[in-house]
Amino acid sequence: MKVIIDIGEAIDIGTIVFKTTINLLSNTIFSVDLIQSNGAAGEFKDLATDITKLAGTPNVADFFPCIEDKRECTRVDTCKDMLDAMLNISKDNEFMDKNMIQHLSLDIFVAGTDTTTSTLEWAMTELINNPEAMRKAKKELEETIGCGVPLEESNISDLPYLHAIIKETLRKHPPVPFLLPRKAERDVEICGYTIPKDAQVLVNMWTICKDPTLWENPTLFSPERFMGSDIDVKGRNYEVAPLVVGGDLSSCNGNRMLMLMLGSLINSFDWELEGGMKPEDMNMDDKFGITLREAQPLRIVPLKLSN
Ligand code: HEM
Repeated sequence: MKVIIDIGEAIDIGTIVFKTTINLLSNTIFSVDLIQSNGAAGEFKDLATDITKLAGTPNVADFFPCIEDKRECTRVDTCKDMLDAMLNISKDNEFMDKNMIQHLSLDIFVAGTDTTTSTLEWAMTELINNPEAMRKAKKELEETIGCGVPLEESNISDLPYLHAIIKETLRKHPPVPFLLPRKAERDVEICGYTIPKDAQVLVNMWTICKDPTLWENPTLFSPERFMGSDIDVKGRNYEVAPLVVGGDLSSCNGNRMLMLMLGSLINSFDWELEGGMKPEDMNMDDKFGITLREAQPLRIVPLKLSN
């Protein structure tokens, strides 16, 4: 998928990232773009940003028309995408029926799009609000792959500062502030409190990530706190576990998509706020929901690189 960004024209960064994420996922699963570069993402966006609506929507599978097409095909020997893999499994396993395939696919879209969009939008917001961090990120990209050069997956491991920016964004703005609800399987005692069997447990990751006893200057955006540190954000370190706590770490990892998109945006353009707004006048409030989004969507103007 190609995303067309015109120099000098303000964009709503959340919408661009949302469309790109949908297509990255739809290519992984179905090998097709679900949204054309100039197409509207609105209907899918409304669904994905409102999980409760989704649960009661009977025709969500209509977003995945290619499932029917592929089912007509004969068994494939090489798996081109995730749908091929699921269809192959379904041949020997009745558990993997059409319904299951549609729901698994939908799960990935709902879990992956709004979270990734929120993180990217906040990362750009924080970088525009912190020009020194933006300067360091640009310098790292310039020295590693060259100014304006498209980012490849193979570059990702050579960009520690960009990685630290993503970790710090996930710490300051965990996209799923209470993670997903859990249920106690038996009575458990934690720190002198008894959690009774069957109680629903919410983990307040938003507060943990800003706890001043765990983090120095927690309201400050400082990617430097992760440089040279072995703290990751995948659930091993409980002071910052915005993806999962105590689960299968591999079940959720949008890091590669985030690095590619953020690195490309920073390395391809300079950026300024729409209408000459100053960074200190930006609205940095959160809008709470199952996922956390910016109260005021970020609108920014791409500029030709100055060097
Ligand atoms: C910054 C990006 C992301 C964040 C912050 C995020 C966050 C989360 C959180 C908090 C959970 C619930 C974990 C729990 O409480 O056990 C979760 C689960 C999940 N996520 Fe993500 N996620 C992100 C990106 C993605 C992407 C890109 C995908 C798909 C490609 C994805 C797929 C999933 C799936 C399938 C689950 C359910 C896992 C399970 O049932 O064990 N996520 N995610």
